[in-house]
Amino acid sequence: MSIISKDIQKAISLLENEELVAIPTETVYGLAGNIFSEKAIKSIFETKKRPFFNPLIVHISSVDELETIVSEIPKKAQKLANAFWPGSLTLVLKKQPYIPKIITAGKDTVAVRVPNHPVTLELLAQLSFPLAAPSANPFNNISPTKPEHVERYFKDDIKMVLDGGICKNGIESTIIGFENDEPVIYRLGALALEDIEAVVGKVIIKNKKEENPDAPGMLEKHYSPLTETILTTDIASEIKKYPTKKIGILAYNTSCKSDEIVSEIILSKASNLKEAASNLYNALHELDHKNLDIIIVEKMPDIGLGKSMNDRLQRASYNS
Ligand code: TXA
Ligand code: MG
Repeated sequence: MSIISKDIQKAISLLENEELVAIPTETVYGLAGNIFSEKAIKSIFETKKRPFFNPLIVHISSVDELETIVSEIPKKAQKLANAFWPGSLTLVLKKQPYIPKIITAGKDTVAVRVPNHPVTLELLAQLSFPLAAPSANPFNNISPTKPEHVERYFKDDIKMVLDGGICKNGIESTIIGFENDEPVIYRLGALALEDIEAVVGKVIIKNKKEENPDAPGMLEKHYSPLTETILTTDIASEIKKYPTKKIGILAYNTSCKSDEIVSEIILSKASNLKEAASNLYNALHELDHKNLDIIIVEKMPDIGLGKSMNDRLQRASYNS
């Protein structure tokens, strides 16, 4: 029997019983539990096989709740929250003392956001506690943008995926921390850098492991298909290097029409980066299930959401 269901009341009673429910958001599906239940939070880490040093994002239902989670709100953080919540922005701020350390991996900061999905906003409004939710994929795998992706990963581990359809942004939230009250981007994401800078001015990006020990989740290899994945600016010449292999192609806006290709997905024929981002993970999931030898991915234009996609694709194709 499928674990995918639209029954919000069932989701509420599972969460109240300290169990996990996969929830829809506008970015990716999350694997959610009550932030105050040690049992639920431990189970999130175990189910995902996520190391305990990697902290979770707390999901709340409105901007007003922010002060119940964090103890200090810099001016620019409030400005960003007001501008983009509900939405694909996660703020990392000083935590309130009663936010459990297991959520924050022992840090005194906590990541928090108001997701922009009607089903999950309704769920959060009915619950008496916030939800901790990492992306609902096993550690390092591709994030889920459809209920079926979560079901495939976790049908033996969790009782329910709350069905909210396809995630319309399709890539994780942009994470912003603060140094001396100034915003610093820890993870590029569904909210374009240009949109953030329009609200708070120039921001620094520190999304590499070596430059930011404060963002423990920014691993060099991440978001990866099981199939070997290669990132290139020139698909045609990359294909020539692998004459004997079964090749899948993930292209930005044009088909490369080659006989060697077994399977090809074009992210946005209209050259629309928002559309491309929303299709990205689903395309990787599909190609990864076609028994290919390699997936060759075209680098996206390095502007707007293209920057966020290139960040994911670099990690997906990282070879140590
Ligand atoms: O769009 C999203 O953000 C999705 C949906 C479900 O909300 N969630 C998500 O969670 O992507 P996750 O756990 O896959 O990624 C959270 C990232 C990790 O890289 C983690 O290291 C970072 O947030 N993070 C969490 N708390 C932090 C903190 N206190 N300081 C620095 N980074 C933090
Ligand atoms: Mg994740």
